[in-house]
Amino acid sequence: MMKIFNIVGARPNFMKIAPIMEAMQKAPEITPVLVHTGQHYDEKMSKVFFEDLDIPRPDINLEVGSGSHAVQTAGIMVAFEKLCVEERPDMVLVVGDVNSTLACSVVASKLLIPVVHVEAGLRSRDRTMPEEVNRLVTDALADVLFTTSRDADENLKQEGVPAEKIFFVGNVMIDTLLKHVDKARHSDIHRRLGLLNGGAPARYGVMTLHRPSNVDDRETLSGILEAVEHIQSKLPVVFPIHPRTLKNIRENGLEERVRRMKSLMLLDPLGYLDFLGLVSGSTLVLTDSGGLQEETTALGIPCITIRNNTERPVTLDQGTNTLVGMDRDLIRTTALDILQGGGKAGRIPELWDGKAAERITDILRRWDPAAFKSLSN
Ligand code: UD1
Repeated sequence: MMKIFNIVGARPNFMKIAPIMEAMQKAPEITPVLVHTGQHYDEKMSKVFFEDLDIPRPDINLEVGSGSHAVQTAGIMVAFEKLCVEERPDMVLVVGDVNSTLACSVVASKLLIPVVHVEAGLRSRDRTMPEEVNRLVTDALADVLFTTSRDADENLKQEGVPAEKIFFVGNVMIDTLLKHVDKARHSDIHRRLGLLNGGAPARYGVMTLHRPSNVDDRETLSGILEAVEHIQSKLPVVFPIHPRTLKNIRENGLEERVRRMKSLMLLDPLGYLDFLGLVSGSTLVLTDSGGLQEETTALGIPCITIRNNTERPVTLDQGTNTLVGMDRDLIRTTALDILQGGGKAGRIPELWDGKAAERITDILRRWDPAAFKSLSN
């Protein structure tokens, strides 16, 4: 039996780990153990996802919580090292690019426990993004790298990762989306928000915004809000707000301005099913999230990404995504173009078919631990 520690910490990890836990529970060779670092801890940032996605309760919660990057990362490392020394897992599987991903990879690697990275090889080539640093370090240490798109394979090869460590398996987050989208469409979120027009969902947009580069600087945040002010005068916009963004809106004296926008609906963070229900019925999405660029591509919903770059170019080349940076005019005109013309049609990227977690589990369950040793050297 292979004991695999599956790590989750922050909100975008939960939908990625759900199908992996499910697939591993069916594999007789694997004992999956779910470890929550506690990076996200609020009910609306964490617990609701376990309920919506039927993820088993974490076997272990390190309860590390918030802090500066060093404080948070170090806190996870100290607690996770102790756990690994006591429990000696055969493998540590990490997903995505959050601080928990980085911290657990470093610890496992130094204890000579094989590291498996799901969603490897994505690169924005922008090291001002903390996630890019997390991705680079995690991939440099990982023994097995599972990718979501061919460009990720190429990035890894260019960085010198041997081809035999890289497996293009598709997108576990899309496994979760495809499994839940029908149920999500039946969520009563439209009724609760008054977004019905004679029984059918009205036209509306959805916005999410939380990246430090967009919300920590007053000037940038204020410019984005100015664009949103125009957009919401043409199309109601639903805005479930991340705690970091709410804090910054308040501290920068922008709350009154947001309140004055009559068709901007400010909400607490939503659970997975409510949010997917909203996005799947929307006319367009405005976001700086990584995952939402992929989810909108899978759903065929036009996405305006408020960033200068993306680590997910497949969503631009094949999907429905458009990068607009933080330019208020470009944000506004792109949204108005979509309202008039319908936006990019896009197609579904290769292997985003709902079976990525099965492929991952199939590779891991047949893994010979000796192979890790030879690959790591
Ligand atoms: C983290 C990830 C980011 C991901 C995002 C999704 C890193 C470096 N960043 O950013 O990649 O897109 O999660 O949300 O790992 N807070 C709460 N309740 C919580 C958690 C956080 O109120 O349950 C507040 C705290 O004030 C905290 C702040 O949000 O200081 C930021 O949380 P943190 O985990 O540091 O990073 P995120 O901005 O959420």
